[in-house]
Amino acid sequence: MKSKVDPDLCIGCGLCPSICPEVYSMGDDGLAHAIEEEIPEDQLQDAEDARDGCPVSAIDLFE
Ligand code: F3S
Repeated sequence: MKSKVDPDLCIGCGLCPSICPEVYSMGDDGLAHAIEEEIPEDQLQDAEDARDGCPVSAIDLFE
């Protein structure tokens, strides 16, 4: 599973890195960015929680 943050939707609320800092981080642009690599197995639940918690549904998880 991989993840992407849609930069057109993200409002930089900071929730996703607080839930799953191994996958999401805030960039200099004030928006969240996901790691490019495959999400580690032990981070999948947190990544899903981050996706589900994002107030603007900017996070996508995909195979
Ligand atoms: Fe942005 Fe949503 Fe994360 S608004 S900072 S992608 S929780």
